[in-house]
Formats: sequence, structure tokens, C-alpha cells
Amino acid sequence: MPTYREALRAATERLRASGVDTARLDAEVLLCHVAGIDRAELYRRLPEPVDFPLAAFWHLVERRAQGEPVAYLTGYREFYGLDFVVTPATLIPRPETEFLVAWATARLRERTDRARCVDVGTGCGAIVIAIAATLGPDHPALLVGSDRSLAALRVARLNRERLAPGRVHLVCGEFLAWCRGPLDLVVANLPYLRPEQWHPGLAYEPPEALFAPDDGFGLYAQLLPQVSERLRPGGGFAFEIDPSQAERAVAAARRFFPDAAVTLLPDLAGRPRYVTVEREDETTGRATRRRRSLG
Ligand SMILES: C[S@@+](CC[C@H](N)C(=O)[O-])C[C@H]1O[C@@H](n2cnc3c(N)ncnc32)[C@H](O)[C@@H]1O
Repeated sequence: MPTYREALRAATERLRASGVDTARLDAEVLLCHVAGIDRAELYRRLPEPVDFPLAAFWHLVERRAQGEPVAYLTGYREFYGLDFVVTPATLIPRPETEFLVAWATARLRERTDRARCVDVGTGCGAIVIAIAATLGPDHPALLVGSDRSLAALRVARLNRERLAPGRVHLVCGEFLAWCRGPLDLVVANLPYLRPEQWHPGLAYEPPEALFAPDDGFGLYAQLLPQVSERLRPGGGFAFEIDPSQAERAVAAARRFFPDAAVTLLPDLAGRPRYVTVEREDETTGRATRRRRSLG
């Protein structure tokens, strides 16, 4: 049997030869997955002979070499420090979406009532389940994840049971048509890519979780009036966009929320990525004051 180091080296070379940028890391993750160990243990075992048949490992390395994402091969992706189950029925959550979790969690932490928060287009449940896990089991907020895809919701249900049991309601429906409101918070990472933004790295994810009509903004154009009808005074809405949509997204948010504070925020790479809307509470002027205090 080869040693762990030799198996890793051979797999890394195979992945590098097929153009995988993260060849060494991917080989490590796949070897750990098949061996049922973490990376610290892998490093400890590097000089030792592999003590199980390597066929399953080589099979995964080959699929990775053909372009399949590591997350679909292992069945997991880390998001907000939590391990989410993902399948080809769900988008693989991206690190930039963690902003929406931090944004919503910060607002919900200020609340001691049963604030109603909806994650529209929840996919594997990443955003709303991370919010629930971060707030903990005793926070009174009512947390809902919705999606039009039943297949995605089945995965979300699995993640809910593993990561935030009993804390999140899951609903199958289009946008917010299933809900009369009023709502305190809405977050959304709906599909926003244009078809011409397709590249081979996206080939394995469900197209209906990636692409949207009308220059990629068509789904948000439908969601915005529905949020506007349901969001309470003092409530907030945050959504993730493609940087190319920044101007249009801000203009649309201002049109549907003429009395709200609309802010465009960058991702960690400095690209405009999030639009937040904070509707003023007439009785307290709360949302506006918070925005002014941030400058
Ligand atoms: C980009 S994925 C995001 C998944 C997850 N929120 C995340 O950030 O990883 C978008 C999700 O929106 C769902 N979706 C698309 N159109 C929808 C609609 N009209 N109503 C509800 N969900 C929708 C898709 O099924 C998909 O699961």
C-alpha cells in the first residue's frame, strides 16, 4: 500500500494536470473524507501506509478531475462555521453570502420579541439555519426559509435537524406569495447571474439556482414589491446581487421603498454586492437613526 503522503502526491498531480487550481487542498479533503479523518490526523498519518482500499478515493479524484465540485463529492460545504449537507439539488453556499447572516443576526439580537424573519430562496437552508444556530435555541424570533424547489427544501430539512433542530420553519412557495406578513426582516440570495456568465465551474449546480432573466435582475424585480407590501415599519431587507446590477438594484429599492434608507455595500473583494433597505419606524425614527450613526 502507498503511504498517505504518496497517495496525496499522486492525487494532487492528477488534479493539477487536469487544471484544478486547488489541487493539493482538494486532494487532502477527498482523502480525509474517504479515510473518515480530519486534516490534523491526515498530517499525522502522512508517513504511514494507507490502511484501506484506495479505489473509492481514486474514483472521487477522477470525478474532481472532470470538474465536479468537492462539495458534491463529499456532500458537505462549510458556511458560517457550520457543515451544511449539499446535493446537486442545491446551490453550494458561497462565503460572500455570510454577510446576510451577520446582517440579520445583528438586527435580531437587538430584539426580544417574536420578530419574523424570512430567507427567500433558502436552498440548503444556509442563511436561515446559520442565523438560527447563531442566535441559539432560546431566541424568540420566528425564522422561516422558503424556496420554490421541493428538492432543495428536503436538503434544508436535513440541515435544520442537524444544525438548528426545531428552530426554523420551511415553506415551499414562490417568492413571498405564501405569506401575508407583516415581516420584520427579509434576506434573499436569489439567482442573479446572466446566462452568458456561465462557466464550466458552474456546470454541476442547478441552473435554476444560478440564473435569472432580465440581465439577472428579473427575480429581484419580482420580489421587491412583495417585500415592500409586507415589511413592517422599522423592518429591514437585505439581498445579494451581481456587482453589475448595483445601480439598477439601488434604483429599484428606492422606487419600492421611497421612505427607507437604502445602502449599497461591498463584499470582501470591494465589489458592490449587497443592498440593504431599512424602513423607518414612524414612531421612533429608528432605522434612519442607525444609518446616520454609521455615517
Ligand atoms: C442562489 S440559490 C441560494 C441558496 C441559498 N440561499 C444560499 O445562499 O446558498 C437561490 C435559490 O432560490 C430559489 N428560487 C429561485 N426562484 C425562486 C422563487 N421564485 N421563489 C422562491 N425560491 C426561488 C432556488 O430554487 C434556489 O434554491
